[in-house]
Amino acid sequence: MEKSQHIPVLLNEVIEGLNLSVNDTVIDATVGGGGHAKAILDKIGPKGTLLGIDWDKDAIERARVYLKEHEDQVILKQGNYIDIKKIAYESRISKINAILLDLGLSRDQLKDFSRGFSFQAEGPLDMRFSDQGLTKASDIVNTWPENDLVQIFEEYGEERHAARAAQNIIAARKLAPIETAKDLADVVMRGVGKHGRIHPATRIFQALRIATNKELDNVSQALPEMIDLLAIHGRLAVISFHSLEDRILKQYFRSMSRAEDPKITLINKKVIKPAREEILENSASRSAKLRIIEKIR
Ligand SMILES: C[S@@+](CC[C@H](N)C(=O)[O-])C[C@H]1O[C@@H](n2cnc3c(N)ncnc32)[C@H](O)[C@@H]1O
Repeated sequence: MEKSQHIPVLLNEVIEGLNLSVNDTVIDATVGGGGHAKAILDKIGPKGTLLGIDWDKDAIERARVYLKEHEDQVILKQGNYIDIKKIAYESRISKINAILLDLGLSRDQLKDFSRGFSFQAEGPLDMRFSDQGLTKASDIVNTWPENDLVQIFEEYGEERHAARAAQNIIAARKLAPIETAKDLADVVMRGVGKHGRIHPATRIFQALRIATNKELDNVSQALPEMIDLLAIHGRLAVISFHSLEDRILKQYFRSMSRAEDPKITLINKKVIKPAREEILENSASRSAKLRIIEKIR
């Protein structure tokens, strides 16, 4: 497994925001290529412990290579972060001082054309983060009723031409199943045409990825579990890349912090975004938003 190409986003902001100390126990719930994890390990020192979770077994292998020098203090597990409690229990760690959740996909996944995340890919239209019990994006586009396609394109893709894109998919799949990412990009391009700078399939691909991996449900389900797992004064940092995800985070954290006897406090009242320099260096960071909370009881 070659080294990760992924550049960790908002790295300094995450490390500062998590307020780490030497010997801490930390969970990186989306360890990816291990970029954030490496910086966390440097902060918690040789007696700290890091549990890295990723749904994607290739990511786990990449992280294993990258974090090799810390192998005695790192536990890596393939799994869905919604099972974080079970995974932490099985890994025999408790009193968690910090949890990081860096949502979305990594550059390694995007650039692996056999995964179907990129619309330039001739590979199968797969888009699953994991081989663990998910339906491929090709099954969604080839079998879902038109209305359901329109709904995800509108809701998850915020696509103005959702209905037209769905009609075109239905017409195309009657002739032959849509097998590759490029097939789908061509169908959408023919139906919707190019408006503005971005490829018309960009939003459709985003919507399909979110639906394939049930990304919004995962976030909503995991937040309470993560807060439960934290020790008092433990912190949770979440990076999101999509307005719907950020809305879920913002509303949940706000309502929890305003409860009568609140369990958490907001560390940053205003969302943290990458500085201009970071966006110039890594355009994939441009839509990133970071929110950090601390458990107070
Ligand atoms: C943006 S990348 C993380 C990059 C990482 N922070 C780094 O510095 O290399 C997001 C990762 O989350 C993983 N992921 C997405 N949904 C997940 C889920 N429900 N459970 C576990 N991992 C998930 C993806 O497979 C991907 O590797």
